[in-house]
Amino acid sequence: MNTRSRIRAGAAAVALALLAAGCTGSGSGSGVRGTPGAAGLRDPLFPRLGNGGYDVSHYALTLSYDPATGRLDGRAEITAKATQDLSAFNLDLAGLTVRGATVDGAPAAVNRAGDELTLRPHDEIEDGAEFRTTVSYGGLPQTITDSDGSEEGWLKTADGALALGEPTGSMAWFPGNHHPSDKAAYDITITVPSGVKALSNGVLTAEKQAPGGRTTSVWHVAEPMASYLAMLAIGRYDTSSTTSTAGAGGTIPVLTAADPEVAAETAALRARIPEILDWQKENFGPYPFAASGAVVERDDDVGYALETQTRPVFPASSFDTHTLVHELAHQWYGDSVSPASWKDIWLNEGFATYGEWLYAEDFEHTPAQKNFEKAFANDAAWAFPPAAPRTPEDLFAAPVYQRGAMVLHRIRQEVGDDTFFEILEGWPTKHRHANVTTEDFTTYVESVTGRDLSGLWDVWLYGDGKPDKPTD
Ligand code: TRP
Ligand code: ZN
Repeated sequence: MNTRSRIRAGAAAVALALLAAGCTGSGSGSGVRGTPGAAGLRDPLFPRLGNGGYDVSHYALTLSYDPATGRLDGRAEITAKATQDLSAFNLDLAGLTVRGATVDGAPAAVNRAGDELTLRPHDEIEDGAEFRTTVSYGGLPQTITDSDGSEEGWLKTADGALALGEPTGSMAWFPGNHHPSDKAAYDITITVPSGVKALSNGVLTAEKQAPGGRTTSVWHVAEPMASYLAMLAIGRYDTSSTTSTAGAGGTIPVLTAADPEVAAETAALRARIPEILDWQKENFGPYPFAASGAVVERDDDVGYALETQTRPVFPASSFDTHTLVHELAHQWYGDSVSPASWKDIWLNEGFATYGEWLYAEDFEHTPAQKNFEKAFANDAAWAFPPAAPRTPEDLFAAPVYQRGAMVLHRIRQEVGDDTFFEILEGWPTKHRHANVTTEDFTTYVESVTGRDLSGLWDVWLYGDGKPDKPTD
């Protein structure tokens, strides 16, 4: 069949379906003629991640987990706004079984193809309309192994589970628009057996008894959050609460949790979070969220630290001052100011690494220049330009971290400390809770400095290979 007749056959099938449904051809009451939203956002590294045609503003996740069986049951209520006339739209979900879905209260047809759920609402959704969709689901959530070998998604631990989502794992525990460009507020309600605790992002707003000897915790994240930064930590924890005044709007809670096996050895550093946030506030501007903290696990339970919003997660052996400074720096760079696509990851990792260099400069008698020279001498840092990771394996490689930080140091060398620190604070202030591209950054730096720095960008951000050592 040639393309043209296939389209005509398709149109005939649609017309028949409309007749069968008793439609007159005007569609829903508003008369829109929608098309399906795209099944992916064409991210250069993950083309099928996320979905087109709508923008999520809020996720309400109501979850229950039983560590004994490993079973997760959930209901996601997603509030979104259509960005086109929609006849159908997709959500990303890996594994799990969907029991049913609604759109604006009416049952919606659900189709499943791999990690893509397609929901077809009873009535089409008009461009600009806000709509609410619910998905009920459950099952044994998956651990996702990335191409670089690291594990994310749902990680079972000795006494519970950890949900971590960078870059793609959040689709293992809730359906959504799983691309960093679609940030949203969250309310996460999680019920677990009373012997364990359940932590998530943001502020704990309620804790109550639930039927069956269980406990329900309610977590509220008011500021926009990329789904890869959503976190659940279920298990036995020793918790510790304090406060910070590093935020813009007054005192915020700082809640840390540690597996009992590593609680004592990590208590002193956990207690230093407020003082580190105060120092970061001086350099980066006010802390952008309404809560802070950390979750520290046994090394057997997680293999890397992650900057999950408001409450980063660490394996005990990486819970050191530098890694804590790094993950807390991400709260400004990555969490509040988030990448528009995964190729902009150096805007996360370059800044968080530079945060470590600044800490070493202020507290460890090691000027950032020393760390710059060390990174410059590291052959692995030159494998590709930081603004151009080529594959998912490149996301967390040395060029993103080390060369990303070198870019910032080169700016500092060019413009001097006063302007550099103005940029360091001005960038997350200007783009607070938004998404940014590498070009947004270079444009911003040039606007603050009034200079054409294209030579610096060409060599340090986009250039292949190692340049001559700068004389400074
Ligand atoms: N983004 C984390 C950090 O640097 C690191 C990270 C997340 C990572 N996922 C990973 C590192 C997978 C290696 C492999 O704070
Ligand atoms: Zn990082």
